[in-house]
Amino acid sequence: MPFTLTPVPPERFADRQNEIERFVRLVDETVTGLPQPIAILGGWATGKTSLLYKFREVAKESDRRIIASRITLDPSTKDLYQFVNIILHQLRADGASITFSKRLKEFFTSFKITVPTPIGEAGLEAVHRAQALPASFYFKGSLKNIWMNVAEHGIPAILIMIDEAAVLTKIEGSLEMLRNVFEDLFMDGCRYMPIVAGRPDLLRSFGEIHSPIARFFHNQMSLRPFTLDEAEELIEKALQGTSVKFTQSLVEKVWAVSQGHPHFIQRICRVIYNNRPADVVDATVLEDFQVRQRIFDEDINPFLEERFQRASSLEKRLLLSLADATESASLKEISAKAKIEKRIASQCLSRLMEKDLVERIERGRYQLFHPLFKDFLRQRPGKNSD
Ligand SMILES: Nc1ncnc2c1ncn2[C@@H]1O[C@H](COP(=O)(O)OP(=O)(O)OP(=O)(O)O)[C@@H](O)[C@H]1O
Ligand SMILES: [Mg+2]
Repeated sequence: MPFTLTPVPPERFADRQNEIERFVRLVDETVTGLPQPIAILGGWATGKTSLLYKFREVAKESDRRIIASRITLDPSTKDLYQFVNIILHQLRADGASITFSKRLKEFFTSFKITVPTPIGEAGLEAVHRAQALPASFYFKGSLKNIWMNVAEHGIPAILIMIDEAAVLTKIEGSLEMLRNVFEDLFMDGCRYMPIVAGRPDLLRSFGEIHSPIARFFHNQMSLRPFTLDEAEELIEKALQGTSVKFTQSLVEKVWAVSQGHPHFIQRICRVIYNNRPADVVDATVLEDFQVRQRIFDEDINPFLEERFQRASSLEKRLLLSLADATESASLKEISAKAKIEKRIASQCLSRLMEKDLVERIERGRYQLFHPLFKDFLRQRPGKNSD
């Protein structure tokens, strides 16, 4: 199956040319000693993870020999030490060695820490924990050691990519630690480039817009929907190596229905591909009742219904009143329409955003996560009963 609902591997990755060019420039600046942390911001399934894989590939592909490590945080990450270890393990898996060098030994001796030998990462962490030293100390020491090891081999920079970065807000102290440690490391000449990826409100969840951590990630990339050309590239790349071709008219239709959202492009194309009447498929396929049924009744609608059922009954009322709004709506408008007190509505909206059903767009306005969800809610049978 050429179409996928999971992140795409770099060779199947379509476009995002601006982001890639900007990424290359920022990497170059980091290499020359001007650190450039990045925040990738995008709504549900807009391609953040795929972009991180692409960046990793671009960094490795070039003759720059950059090490790029990617980690995904999940809510089970308990504490700072665990967070630090996840990063260090990944770095090692990606080729950055954490040997216990003479220099690091000296570093610890200078703080009067007894170092048992032989000592690995676990031993090192144990020493820190036993001495009740903050995780940041262990993090910085290990990263510095890694840097010294790799710099000796001519590696010009190390990228540390953190996917699902909203989890950081649940790991107490992690944000402050990231900023402080990386700023210190930059000052010491260690060329690390942290990249975080998350929802559009990621930085706002990190703190006020001018807070130190939000300022630290001042290079922001917001993932917008695909243009028609980009959608065409996505489909072409997917169909490469198959004997199947989607005509321009079909691509245009898919793009219009999906509104350029990469997940929905992949989703719709998947069904069309499975139900193609011939190897050359044109837009008339979408007029076929059976195919439409497969796309909407058997695929998209059950998928959207499952998402709708994630909402509590109060939240469902808000979703339905949002579906009634022409475009976006303010908290005041939504709460009035749903007849829910503003304070409660505001809490519900936060939860709906966490569940990826609602997005906050600029100036305190909210909208459903995708227009297809809106159409679905408007047409949903029994929409007034729950
Ligand atoms: N540049 C791209 N080219 C082709 N397909 C893409 C591209 N970007 C995203 N997709 C498709 O869009 C969907 C979502 O991609 P991905 O998982 O990378 O997004 P995400 O933003 O990380 O999602 P989530 O919010 O669930 O973490 C997948 O089906 C993927 O195949
Ligand atoms: Mg992702």
